[in-house]
Amino acid sequence: MSHIKTMNLNDGSTFPAIAFGTVNVKGAQGVYDVLNAIEAGYRLIDTSTNYNNEGMVGEAVKRTTIPREELTISSKLPGAAHAYDEAILMIQESLYRIGIDYFDKYLIHWPLPKQDQYVQAWQALIDAQKFGLIKTIGVSNFLPEHLDRIIDETGVTPATNQIERHPYFNNKALIEANKKRGIVTEAWSPLGRKINDVLENETIHAIAKKYKRSSAQIIGRWNMQNDVLHVVKASTPKHQKENLNIFDFELSEEDMKQIDDLDKGEPGRVEGQDPNGYEEFD
Ligand SMILES: NC(=O)c1ccc[n+]([C@@H]2O[C@H](COP(=O)([O-])OP(=O)(O)OC[C@H]3O[C@@H](n4cnc5c(N)ncnc54)[C@H](OP(=O)(O)O)[C@@H]3O)[C@@H](O)[C@H]2O)c1
Repeated sequence: MSHIKTMNLNDGSTFPAIAFGTVNVKGAQGVYDVLNAIEAGYRLIDTSTNYNNEGMVGEAVKRTTIPREELTISSKLPGAAHAYDEAILMIQESLYRIGIDYFDKYLIHWPLPKQDQYVQAWQALIDAQKFGLIKTIGVSNFLPEHLDRIIDETGVTPATNQIERHPYFNNKALIEANKKRGIVTEAWSPLGRKINDVLENETIHAIAKKYKRSSAQIIGRWNMQNDVLHVVKASTPKHQKENLNIFDFELSEEDMKQIDDLDKGEPGRVEGQDPNGYEEFD
């Protein structure tokens, strides 16, 4: 494995530029998958209360020989706990589930603007950071208006915003909006979660052939060259290793543009989850 690039965040912290995603990574098999991922070289683990697998992540953290301080554990606040007091209790509960005493990173999972409690949720993350429960605080699926509101009302800017991004929905404008505010973008479902056929796309295949890489590696590299943190899930050990091997080649500007041009706009979303309308408990 080549050396993993790191990214500097606006709160002074440094994170690996690749996270191991854990949607559908569960139970005893999940522990094995996470341990394999750590063995392969992943150090940033992305989970969420909504994934129902924080206990599994905790079991892997307990069993690995890699010291806790070398791991970066990130989870997310569910919509049911946006009210301030609920959020503080949820963060504590989530820590107990994983069996750790602080989060390296913790995000609000969705803004849920119809529920309109994300400002108090953000205040809870700010305070939990002061209490020492979280090191880096951020958000997920926030649009510019949601970002501006939490920044204006609390004076604190999130360090990261984890958003949907893959070649069919590249979310470029939101990445720019994040950058303008000093926020690092994290990309979720970068391979289209196998719901879309982005890994079979002809343009990406042709670029992959040219660089003697896989389609998944080309997409990972595209994120690296855009300074986007790549949150990728793989249970297959071969996929896990392959996805980390993206630091010893460089895509040309022309190839980067060809990938950008695959964007389909809103219809390109994997499951139509527009953050302004999406409800976690529909
Ligand atoms: N914040 C949010 O709202 C949000 C939403 C969605 C996801 N996420 C996060 O983002 C992570 C990644 O997204 P995702 O899980 O939806 O999907 P993804 O990472 O886009 O795709 C995962 C799929 O791609 C396959 N795969 C991985 N590497 C491959 C390779 N090198 N070659 C071929 N196939 C490969 C995996 O297969 P195998 O597993 O069989 O190897 C799996 O079926 C999640 O796990 C989660 O942590 C966050």
